[in-house]
Amino acid sequence: IIWRNMSYNYDEIIDRNSSEIIRAYTSGGNKTACIKTFGCQQNEADSEKIAGILTSLGFGITDSAEGASLIILNTCAVRAHAEEKVLSLLGGFKAQKRKNPELIIGVVGCMGAISKTVEMLKRDFHYVSFTMGAGVMHKLPEVLSAVIADGARRFLLPNEREKTVEGMPTVRAAQRTAYVSIMYGCNNFCSYCIVPYTRGRERSRESRYIIEECRELILGGAREIMLLGQNVNSYSSDVDFPDLLLKIAELEGDFSIRFMTSHPKDVSDRLISVMSCHGDKIAPIFHLPLQSGSDRILRDMNRRYDRAGFIATAKKIKENIRGVTLTTDVIVGYPGESEEDFLDTLEVLSEVRFDAVYAFLYSARVGTPAASRPDGVAEDVKRERLSRLLQLQDKISQEINRELVGKTLTVSKESCEVDFAGRYRGRTRGAKLVHFSSEALPHSENIKVKITSAEPYFLIGEAVK
Ligand code: SAH
Ligand code: SF4
Ligand code: F3S
Repeated sequence: IIWRNMSYNYDEIIDRNSSEIIRAYTSGGNKTACIKTFGCQQNEADSEKIAGILTSLGFGITDSAEGASLIILNTCAVRAHAEEKVLSLLGGFKAQKRKNPELIIGVVGCMGAISKTVEMLKRDFHYVSFTMGAGVMHKLPEVLSAVIADGARRFLLPNEREKTVEGMPTVRAAQRTAYVSIMYGCNNFCSYCIVPYTRGRERSRESRYIIEECRELILGGAREIMLLGQNVNSYSSDVDFPDLLLKIAELEGDFSIRFMTSHPKDVSDRLISVMSCHGDKIAPIFHLPLQSGSDRILRDMNRRYDRAGFIATAKKIKENIRGVTLTTDVIVGYPGESEEDFLDTLEVLSEVRFDAVYAFLYSARVGTPAASRPDGVAEDVKRERLSRLLQLQDKISQEINRELVGKTLTVSKESCEVDFAGRYRGRTRGAKLVHFSSEALPHSENIKVKITSAEPYFLIGEAVK
């Protein structure tokens, strides 16, 4: 199901001139746009705005690039692999553009914000019609109308002082979970990370706009509000992050609030206490990226916390938020990471016992301080460490999940389709995946499921009356 949130002030976002040019172009009613999204939820949320803008200008949205008049790739630059995926998909469109010279191809998002990457696209991908950096989606009509008007290519890098823009039309992709960006950008400059360069400095939305958006979404049937930000808990506007959570929690309706991603340095006692006191509305889910368990590496990464501080925060979260699902990110093979440093990371995983760990092989990003370091870890060492880490974490995840066997949990159904064993998929309040059997077709919310067995990545159970 798709919602159309049309409560925007059209003229403020889309100037009349651009909109007239694009509407003339789409006036035959047969112009379709295909949007391919890579990377994080922030990009998913941006793509919903792109779809909103294009829909309001007369485009139909399609999943298939073949036959589309406009293809937009909303890209990610966080690791080399993410960029390679984009470039390989882009390569596939070359033939389509040759067959249909009218085809417009745009590369937007994080790759579109890096000037070196844009230079490369300009030079090596002649069939790319325009690029735009992340966070300037409101300028899409301007750029697109210019390309339509004269066929010349456009390359728009974001401006450092870019402000937050309210009221963009949005076409929501999913019904149950709704993404709400509350802040953009990052000020932290972790030594390995490209995001501060692609997303610019931190900007927080005013709380009244966020509350209004949440209210509309809940009225429209959203059951889960996912607040998004590169450092969501660094949110700082007319209110701070815990107060924002409280204000959203006060809204009427049957919904839960989640948020992504927290920076450990900004986890306050107040945030933890707000989450523990409002467990009815705020889901017991906490993603707290560790990156490394070695103090030496953490300092070099510019993470602004140490191992002991991180462990203390993680323990506070686990002790105070009932039934919390605690997850983390780890980078394996950061330059200079020794065997001891890596063992420090494993030790933290054993001590904290996360429900799940997202582990990434370090990938050098041009322009970041870490990329110019000469002491990179050899590829095979990185891989070997990653596999040891995953082995340890599988064991921990399975042990944690086994403790749930025999318990009855509240699960919301994720899909109406059954898997090969005839089981439905659902999620606990802590977002754990549950495959469960049920005699009757279960309702989507609040199904009681008795857990019968556990795997590292999911639980198996039976619906009970
Ligand atoms: N803002 C979030 C995460 C943003 S990127 C935070 O501060 O935690 C998501 C994850 O990608 C990071 O947590 C990190 O683990 C990983 N990552 C970022 N840059 C990377 C790089 N150059 N190589 C490998 N992994 C990286
Ligand atoms: Fe990247 Fe660090 Fe900012 Fe996260 S906090 S986006 S890892 S620079
Ligand atoms: Fe990727 Fe940009 Fe998100 S680099 S992870 S899409 S902020």
